[in-house]
Amino acid sequence: MAETLIVSAQTDRKQRYDELLPQLKGLVHGERNVIANLANIAAALRQTFDFFWVGFYLVDGEELVLGPFQGDIACTRIQKGKGVCGTAWAEGVAQLVPDVDAFPGHIACSSASRSEIVVPILSEGKVVAVLDIDSDHLNDFSQVDIDSVEALCRFLGQSVFS
Ligand code: SME
Repeated sequence: MAETLIVSAQTDRKQRYDELLPQLKGLVHGERNVIANLANIAAALRQTFDFFWVGFYLVDGEELVLGPFQGDIACTRIQKGKGVCGTAWAEGVAQLVPDVDAFPGHIACSSASRSEIVVPILSEGKVVAVLDIDSDHLNDFSQVDIDSVEALCRFLGQSVFS
């Protein structure tokens, strides 16, 4: 397992994702424990981009339950269709929220969070988890983040969760 991530210290986020993604695949290669792999993915995303909060919520019956994360303590359970995470699960579609205060029903685990993306992870056609990334800056995410995190989540759904 690689112990060091090598990502250019430059501001182009797309290039940084492109450099990071193969290393994330290497990070989980050969390890079958889902929690261990998700924990390292969350840590790698946070240490690379210095996001305010990065974490997984896992489908547990009709709720999401908090999984491995990096950042401040967070809400433990979220109902299907509720908040940004529950919406991403119910719709099976990534959510890009430039201003959390403008998202009806946004669940504020931390008042410092200002913008957010949530990407569902599908395994065998069903949402099994979501990856939630929060920023303490308004409008911090774009389609670049969605596209790259979706690519990561496709990999997670096909490998880590299968
Ligand atoms: N804001 C999320 C809740 C999770 S926290 O951001 C960590 C939501 O509205 O679903």
